[in-house]
Amino acid sequence: MTSPVVHLREITDDNREAVCALRVRHHQKQFVASVKRSLGHAAAAPKAHPWFRAVYCGDEPVGFVMLSWNPPTGRYRGRYFLWRLLIDKRYQRRGIGRAALEQIVELVRAEGATELLSSYETGEGDPWPFYEKFGFERTGELDDDEIVIRLPLPARGS
Ligand SMILES: CC(C)(COP(=O)(O)OP(=O)(O)OC[C@H]1O[C@@H](n2cnc3c(N)ncnc32)[C@H](O)[C@@H]1OP(=O)(O)O)[C@@H](O)C(=O)NCCC(=O)NCCS
Repeated sequence: MTSPVVHLREITDDNREAVCALRVRHHQKQFVASVKRSLGHAAAAPKAHPWFRAVYCGDEPVGFVMLSWNPPTGRYRGRYFLWRLLIDKRYQRRGIGRAALEQIVELVRAEGATELLSSYETGEGDPWPFYEKFGFERTGELDDDEIVIRLPLPARGS
């Protein structure tokens, strides 16, 4: 299967409503906050250095991604933490989540990151199979009852 072409775009007054209308499947709501709530969390936590983008296929918003980008303080100080990733239910299982994450990986690599961290809540339909296929591993730590995972990003050529 060829990878879908996806773009990460800034969220502005022009597309905020459409991006906030994205929805995951009913059973997935326990694993991820909505876009609207996530934007609220970002606004309330500037110290976490939130960085977010809409995921687009062509002119269609299809997903949302948010990181804590090299925050100066806190548990993930100086690191890159994938805080939210969601693909609208109509567009899942087409390779879009993976393609978006590949772009995130390139962006954080360009910043000199040697790993990308994340965490997930366990349960039926949790995103671990997606992350495991991508190459994430469990660190053995828990954060607020969530399983902490990391994607090692070895320097190219090593
Ligand atoms: C997890 C999520 C982002 C994956 O996005 P997606 O676009 O559907 O995933 P992709 O199509 O790129 O899948 C990539 C691979 O992972 C697999 N995969 C994706 N979701 C899976 C799942 N729930 N169970 C098993 N495999 C899964 C795909 O089959 C594919 O494998 P393949 O290459 O062997 O075909 C999406 O399901 C989602 O938004 N879930 C709800 C929110 C969530 O849990 N986010 C993560 C926590 S913040």
